[in-house]
Amino acid sequence: MTARNVLVTGGNRGIGQAIAEAMQAAGHTVLITSRSGEAPDGLTAVQGDVTDTESVDAAFKAAEEHFGGPVEVVVANAGITKDGLLMRMSDDDFEAVIDTNLAGAFRCARRASAGMIKKRFGRIVFISSVVGLYGGPGQTNYSASKSGLVGLARSITRELGGRGITANVVAPGFIETDMTAELPEDRQKAYKAAIPAGRFATPAEVAAAVLFLASDEAAYISGAVIPVDGGLGMGH
Ligand SMILES: NC(=O)c1ccc[n+]([C@@H]2O[C@H](COP(=O)([O-])OP(=O)(O)OC[C@H]3O[C@@H](n4cnc5c(N)ncnc54)[C@H](OP(=O)(O)O)[C@@H]3O)[C@@H](O)[C@H]2O)c1
Repeated sequence: MTARNVLVTGGNRGIGQAIAEAMQAAGHTVLITSRSGEAPDGLTAVQGDVTDTESVDAAFKAAEEHFGGPVEVVVANAGITKDGLLMRMSDDDFEAVIDTNLAGAFRCARRASAGMIKKRFGRIVFISSVVGLYGGPGQTNYSASKSGLVGLARSITRELGGRGITANVVAPGFIETDMTAELPEDRQKAYKAAIPAGRFATPAEVAAAVLFLASDEAAYISGAVIPVDGGLGMGH
């Protein structure tokens, strides 16, 4: 295993934290970004807000100083939802979700690319959602932002694929988080009935897919969408 310099955006909680912890446990040098600049026990953070180009630049500069070299693996995980029915969705709610989930991921990939090109190695992993390709009522903004990541990864692949850089999308389905735990039991049951695996995923199961895509062994996988959804979407 080659130890890499890894930056996980929004790694202070939820799925991002699980990804950062799994990467660190595997022997990589890991930093997370958090908006507060704080990190959970055992992880190290740089401050960063993905909606702000200068803040992304500052986070990468701090990371490069910490690593003593370029960011080799970037996991664009930071994301938000602002659900609402199409007829009533405000411009602000649409734009805020696109700005964080899609433009935020673009800003990180763009900033990471220079160092990766120089190094002739890079792994860019975008955390999308089953909702990106499957759709979701009340989630036009979220779904559009998450499917946009597919075009982003595939265009990066065509642009930088010859330079040792891969760009892939991981599309989680329902993940065991505080959010899903709070759903009423009958709703949880209905969701689980629609999932071929019959259960929600653990954050660690999402992290395992990211860990593989970041590895040397995954050098020939790029522009792919890897679902971690128990068969809910099956690529749709
Ligand atoms: N949970 C699921 O079931 C599920 C399913 C499919 C896909 N996903 C995707 O997986 C990713 C992580 O989800 P999660 O459930 O772990 O979410 P979460 O617990 O709500 O965490 C979201 C993370 O994103 C960060 N973030 C939000 N806006 C940001 C900004 N402008 N700049 C920097 N960081 C920002 C948050 O930072 P703060 O702590 O500062 O708010 C937090 O660290 C998201 O992209 C989400 O869309 C989740």
